[in-house]
Amino acid sequence: MTMKKSISYAIALTIGITFTPGMSMAAEADAAKKAHDEMDQAMHLKANLENGKAVFEVCTACHMPEGWGKDDGTFPQVARQHRSVLIKQLADIRAKNRDAPTMYPFALPDSLGDAQSIADVTEYISKLPMNPNNGVGTGDDLAHGEKLYKDNCVKCHGDKGEGSAEKLYPRIQGQHYKYMLRQFEWIRDGKRRNANPEMVKQIKGFSEKDETAVIDYVSRLKPAKEDLGEPGWQNPDFK
Ligand code: HEC
Ligand code: HEC
Repeated sequence: MTMKKSISYAIALTIGITFTPGMSMAAEADAAKKAHDEMDQAMHLKANLENGKAVFEVCTACHMPEGWGKDDGTFPQVARQHRSVLIKQLADIRAKNRDAPTMYPFALPDSLGDAQSIADVTEYISKLPMNPNNGVGTGDDLAHGEKLYKDNCVKCHGDKGEGSAEKLYPRIQGQHYKYMLRQFEWIRDGKRRNANPEMVKQIKGFSEKDETAVIDYVSRLKPAKEDLGEPGWQNPDFK
């Protein structure tokens, strides 16, 4: 099978999968431990960038060859995310410590490979330049959003939404508005089991208006110039 054919075949397969949300507490603890062990392993391996590029090919079907995702929120931008954050999310998704039904089959060892492949593909992704035109909100309530951000988010995600590689806080600057809104709600409502409990507490009392205002503000935080791609940039590795 050609690469393109095998990708559409694999996507067709995923549609047949039924997902059972809600795991027992023991299963959750088990998934968390598995994810943690694998993350630890991937974090300490030396990355091979060439192999990372080869592994990324299957990911481009959804995350796009540039890693820029889609502004309709279906697929997140992954380009330039901190490598440690990428490793944690991949390990969590494949241990079912975070539900991502469309992506799950692609995160499994049969498709993605072992901890070495995770080490390699995350190195590749973390070096891609970011989308200069990500999806943003309506812009109606930015002053309120800014205040909420400064009071509730800066301490973890940083002044400009740059996050922290060391503490595993994701870069959220320049991320698509609609994707972030969904994640924010899932984190608040406990659907993302890998979420930071402190963040869950911090956003518990947010109204819908607060939520859209703060995420709109975040979606407009600009990454540093050297982290951005040119508008319309196409990844030459996948032409
Ligand atoms: C069939 C589509 C699809 C494919 C193929 C796919 N992904 Fe994803 N990926 C998604 C979706 C959808 C999400 C967001 C899940 C959600 O909404 O919670 C996601 C989320 C992620 C995240 C978490 C992003 C974040 O901001 O937390 C990472 C990292 C990621 N994918 C990496 C990869 C890599 C690496 C590959 C290739 C090995 C890959 N994905 C292949 C659909 C896909
Ligand atoms: C105590 C630290 C902390 C605080 C405070 C916090 N966050 Fe987070 N946030 C995190 C961590 C850690 C994650 C990743 C969770 C995981 O591993 O799944 C995250 C994930 C997210 C995501 C999903 C990113 C992605 O790529 O999927 C969004 C969006 C987000 N936070 C927005 C916010 C906003 C907006 C605020 C303030 C209202 C906030 N966070 C407050 C630590 C924090």
